[in-house]
Amino acid sequence: MNESNTSSVLVTGASGRTGREILRELNDTSFHVRALTRSATNRESLREAGVDEVVIGDLLEQSDARRAVENCDAILFAAGSSLSTGLLRPSRVVDGDGVLNLVEAAVREDVGTFVFQSSIGVGDSRLGMPLWARLIVLRWTVREKERAERALQDSGLEYVVIRPGWLTDDPATNDLLITEGGGRMTGSVPRADVASLMVTALSTPDVLNRTYEVVARDTAEQFNPSRQTTVEWNHNAPSRT
Ligand SMILES: NC(=O)c1ccc[n+]([C@@H]2O[C@H](COP(=O)([O-])OP(=O)(O)OC[C@H]3O[C@@H](n4cnc5c(N)ncnc54)[C@H](OP(=O)(O)O)[C@@H]3O)[C@@H](O)[C@H]2O)c1
Repeated sequence: MNESNTSSVLVTGASGRTGREILRELNDTSFHVRALTRSATNRESLREAGVDEVVIGDLLEQSDARRAVENCDAILFAAGSSLSTGLLRPSRVVDGDGVLNLVEAAVREDVGTFVFQSSIGVGDSRLGMPLWARLIVLRWTVREKERAERALQDSGLEYVVIRPGWLTDDPATNDLLITEGGGRMTGSVPRADVASLMVTALSTPDVLNRTYEVVARDTAEQFNPSRQTTVEWNHNAPSRT
């Protein structure tokens, strides 16, 4: 664990589209931000985006996962494999083994909170993903993310699982429908909203050890009101002084 007064957060998938939004959110906070990327060519742009420390590594390598999480207090996991994974079906993907490696490393390091970006369609939210996506295009990814969610939920770490609907690059709506524990909700959500929720989770104790589905309210379909969450998300992360 980090022994300074500043909490240190690892962002995986920091060079990706949700990852970039997370970095934007973290810019206004006092967190020491470490970003993981597989490619050294991302180092400069990550620095420009406000990252304090860049670690080059691949989550499919256990030693890289351990190095990435050293002295970290929290993890924001926004990595994921590309759509072609569903067709190529590689034996190991970041959505499964990559998460498992990081969970194992986080337990060893005694990390405080692990926020995992999963997907509607995973586990008991499966009815929120169209059948063609669940059974054909994303079948492989969904199965791996299920394995990852279970490993995290069973790890003993404090976790938050956030399952967004289809991701868009639209500006944040700040008007989300958040449900807990499956339900028949489907819709889309800007990455900016998901990033905001993930960072907010770090300062909202009530959401710990819970699994949420999230879509932008104006896109929500098949909503089951009984599962709507009542938690107040605390949007006051520790700020830069
Ligand atoms: N697309 C959708 O509609 C949708 C819906 C729900 C959920 N999701 C999930 O949301 C997450 C974020 O999606 P996104 O589209 O914002 O991300 P993205 O732009 O595709 O970026 C993915 C990131 O994952 C990192 N990555 C991939 N393999 C890695 C590995 N082996 N080790 C370390 N990092 C690795 C890449 O980083 P480097 O290349 O820098 O290493 C990349 O920055 C994914 O898990 C995705 O499955 C997507």
